[in-house]
Amino acid sequence: MNRYTEPKYRTINDAKENELDQLQAKSTSSTWKPAYHIHPGYGLMNDPNGLAYFNGEFHVFYQWYPFGPTHGMKHWAHVKSTDLIDWKRLPTAIVPVEDYESHGAYSGASIEVDGELYLYYTGNIKYSAEERSANQCLAIMDKDGAIRKYEQNPIIEGVPEGYTGHVRDPKVFKKNDTYYMLLGAQRSNLTGAIIVYESSNARDWSFKGELDLDLNLPDTCYMLECPDYFELNGQDVLVVSPQGLEPEEHAYQNLYNVIYVLGELDIENLTFKVESHHELDKGFDFYAPQTFEGKNKERLLFGWAGMGEMDYPSDKEGWAHCLTIPRKLDIVDGRLIQKPARELEKLRAEPAKGEFSLSQGSTEIGAASYQYELELSLESIESEIFGLRLFSSETEGLVLEFNRSEQTVTLNRENFAETFGGEYGFERSSKLEIGDKVDMQIFVDRSIVEIFINGGELVFTSRVFPHKESTGINVVADGKMNVNYKSYPMSC
Ligand code: FRU
Repeated sequence: MNRYTEPKYRTINDAKENELDQLQAKSTSSTWKPAYHIHPGYGLMNDPNGLAYFNGEFHVFYQWYPFGPTHGMKHWAHVKSTDLIDWKRLPTAIVPVEDYESHGAYSGASIEVDGELYLYYTGNIKYSAEERSANQCLAIMDKDGAIRKYEQNPIIEGVPEGYTGHVRDPKVFKKNDTYYMLLGAQRSNLTGAIIVYESSNARDWSFKGELDLDLNLPDTCYMLECPDYFELNGQDVLVVSPQGLEPEEHAYQNLYNVIYVLGELDIENLTFKVESHHELDKGFDFYAPQTFEGKNKERLLFGWAGMGEMDYPSDKEGWAHCLTIPRKLDIVDGRLIQKPARELEKLRAEPAKGEFSLSQGSTEIGAASYQYELELSLESIESEIFGLRLFSSETEGLVLEFNRSEQTVTLNRENFAETFGGEYGFERSSKLEIGDKVDMQIFVDRSIVEIFINGGELVFTSRVFPHKESTGINVVADGKMNVNYKSYPMSC
């Protein structure tokens, strides 16, 4: 069969002379590029891949299309750090030049095996614009950081019977001396599933079956992408990115969404007993997160701060998307809690601080800058409707509004000259128990904001593309409340 070709299916090895330098130059003058969030030098970034603390260093790989802000031939780009804040760009880790990965090195995860880091990924195969298949592949990074593709790739050729070509995003873990691989899959009846392979040596794999996982999702769910599994505080946690869910009142408001599931995994018998499941993040731009074990065995997460099928204002500068900050996970009262990794505190410069009581109206607080962390606590709240306006100027502002009578929080990003994604709505909302106290920790980095509410019980991750002068922070209330804040410029 002839190889399916399209201009977007070429690798960096096929770049014309100076092409990559020109792409880099085009995006360098951007005022929207984040300072402390991992982002692409140029081109499009999507999912975090292969996350690991390995041999004393943090490694983050990510899906990368070099030639523009679109989804094309995906490579694995690579950055590393010793402290989770200073990231060094490394040569592209996986360039899809082989037949078994002819249309891209898709997402996957890593695990340390015999002192080397095994990077599992999906070799995407396209036969036409609609028809596809998938191979599961392995690359190995040694202690010196050299990465080689496994000679016997693919480790899993094609897809098992009963599934379409949409089988991808390997996550490998070890239990009782056996390695298991979870894969996101689509059944032949076009519904989403997770399938499982097993191996005794992490290289030779056999199909075990489909995971019995009753998420009670509607049949419109046509794919489960990027499954992740880990144990935390004695519980089994599954994180997965379902596609095809219809928006409900405060749920599944993005085109693609992410849920975490708490329960009990019996991998031998292929069952995951679901105790509860919830959305992981309520913002506009959050998808395909992945977790890993950090330096002190804590569970850390990076997410893709982006959304498929949408154009972003930075596209015209030749780059798209970034990752979230690293977040530490915990389970409290049956909920997965996300907190910014403590390492980020090292970026804090001398804060502007203040304490005042607001009776009604709006007060501007904090030092205006492009990247800062804001700690805010609102107490003795008597207001019904109160909140914040970030990236604020006379003409722009991101509005976070708490509504006590409805017990909801809403984020609205309509009010910008560079609006985008309006076809999916300009508001995201969530239920929240609002008493007389709310605290927030907010990370702003030029064109991304991450809002952690009440110790990470609720998180909104969103991109905004403000004018340069839109840096104000306003606290707004329709009644009384006490405000206490610290706003740290980030030294980066
Ligand atoms: C999620 C995803 C994965 C796939 C990758 C391709 O955003 O669609 O399922 O492996 O992106 O870039």
